[in-house]
Amino acid sequence: MSVQIITSIEDMQTISSRWRLDGFRIGFVPTMGNLHEGHLRLVEKAKQNVDKVVISIFVNPLQFGPNEDFEKYPRTLDADIEKLQSLSVDAVFAPDEKSFYRNDKDKMTYVEVPGLSDILCGASRPGHFRGVTTVVNKLFNIVQADIAVFGSKDYQQLTIIRQMVEELAMPVKIIGMDTVREIDGLAMSSRNRYLSTEQRNIAPKLYQCLQSMRQVIREDEQDLTKLVTEYKKVLLKDGFQIDYLEIRDAHSFQSIEEPSENMVILTAVWLGDTRLIDNILV
Ligand code: PAF
Repeated sequence: MSVQIITSIEDMQTISSRWRLDGFRIGFVPTMGNLHEGHLRLVEKAKQNVDKVVISIFVNPLQFGPNEDFEKYPRTLDADIEKLQSLSVDAVFAPDEKSFYRNDKDKMTYVEVPGLSDILCGASRPGHFRGVTTVVNKLFNIVQADIAVFGSKDYQQLTIIRQMVEELAMPVKIIGMDTVREIDGLAMSSRNRYLSTEQRNIAPKLYQCLQSMRQVIREDEQDLTKLVTEYKKVLLKDGFQIDYLEIRDAHSFQSIEEPSENMVILTAVWLGDTRLIDNILV
């Protein structure tokens, strides 16, 4: 059976409501399309836990800054649908921008998680996480899923969404999935396709740096500030421009200077015009 493509909010809500009335549990994977192996694993994960799986494909303008890559972000709907056929997804929700956001940006209702949204990626991309939480909230209201699956590459995004769901008592369970990587360790991302051959060869060094930092901490390095300074030099030497490289508490995101339980090393770097993010739990 070929996958159902739904473009209207009302149709998606009707289908989901019917499934719920029939007693089906719904799993949801929100995406911006240009699907790669990482997305497909999220779908497989969702399928293990529910009766019906919905994936959304929507390049959300609210989460892009004025000088970011919204226009050039890869839109590959036909190829995406092709990839989903073999996974027996029940519905692809792919609305167009005009029907999804019916109000001007300055008159819209937003959902915002303050604090966590303003640090790290949020500091470099003002308004980004407000765009994410607003679209995810709206998608949850439309799809009415029991579970939603997100990748851990966007660790800060996952943490913010968990907080939103908890604080607003949203009836959906959030499942985080390990980052899916290329053979050389580079975290899969739709933005990897922007990299030149030379940049693509450098890119895996980002994860190698995180692995090496984790190793040094496990070998009992106590001075995390010194460690970060040293590894920033390594990244610069490798050819990255650094947005941030930080070690934080994995739950609260508080900065930490000495090793503690549940740490996460988070980074965002630039290779030319391409921004890469990655993280590793310690
Ligand atoms: O992670 C993404 O691809 C996006 O931020 C999401 C969650 C689909 C919201 O647009």
